[in-house]
Amino acid sequence: MLQSISLPRHLDTRPIPASVHAMVHDLRCRIEAFQDRWDIPQIEQFVAADYQLVYQTLDWLRESQLMIGNRFVEWGCGFAAVTLMADALGWEALGIESESVLIEHGRRTVADWCDALREDSAIAPLRPPELWQGNFLPAGAEDLADDPTLPSLGHGSEPVYHRLGLELDDFAVVYSYPWPGEDEFHEQIFDQYAARGAVLVQFCGPNEMRAWRAVSRA
Ligand SMILES: C[S@@+](CC[C@H](N)C(=O)[O-])C[C@H]1O[C@@H](n2cnc3c(N)ncnc32)[C@H](O)[C@@H]1O
Repeated sequence: MLQSISLPRHLDTRPIPASVHAMVHDLRCRIEAFQDRWDIPQIEQFVAADYQLVYQTLDWLRESQLMIGNRFVEWGCGFAAVTLMADALGWEALGIESESVLIEHGRRTVADWCDALREDSAIAPLRPPELWQGNFLPAGAEDLADDPTLPSLGHGSEPVYHRLGLELDDFAVVYSYPWPGEDEFHEQIFDQYAARGAVLVQFCGPNEMRAWRAVSRA
């Protein structure tokens, strides 16, 4: 079962480090340029979240909620902004993305912004966060979907967890940006596969963040 974590009303007034602002501004330009390209196939499933609000939510969760561990995974990391923000907040963060062109962009974000974000948050310069190309759905999770057209389905690539030597229940926090109508599917997967006590954070559209904790098994 999932228990909703009630988020404070004025999350969007929480301070954001200058480096995060600068990265978000830079990524907006890169994403716009990427989406304006006519000479490469468009990745229709890639839509950027409101990164400032995601940062404010993660920062609040980090400060106020008990965590069962330090591993963080971004499902469908795209340009990897959220993976980097989680890293700067002190999580051992990694991103999973099915599209190779987005993995390349994500790696560029890590190369260009990891040090600046860490410097602002006084995070030790260990290995930068890793981005993995593959499927974020654990093996068997597709069977939980009652609609075969959900955008998270049918990516064909193998779940990355066995390559990582980890399972979904090794992560304390999962972040996802589900498409409209797909939120319940992501919640179901999280409920089925995550460790009890782990937290799911979702960006569900403008001004809408949700957070859940996995409690007892359904
Ligand atoms: C709505 S975008 C969100 C991007 C980013 N997380 C953010 O918050 O800005 C969803 C991303 O998930 C990726 N994706 C969708 N299903 C996936 C799957 N099963 N495995 C890996 N990546 C997937 C898409 O390619 C896309 O980049």
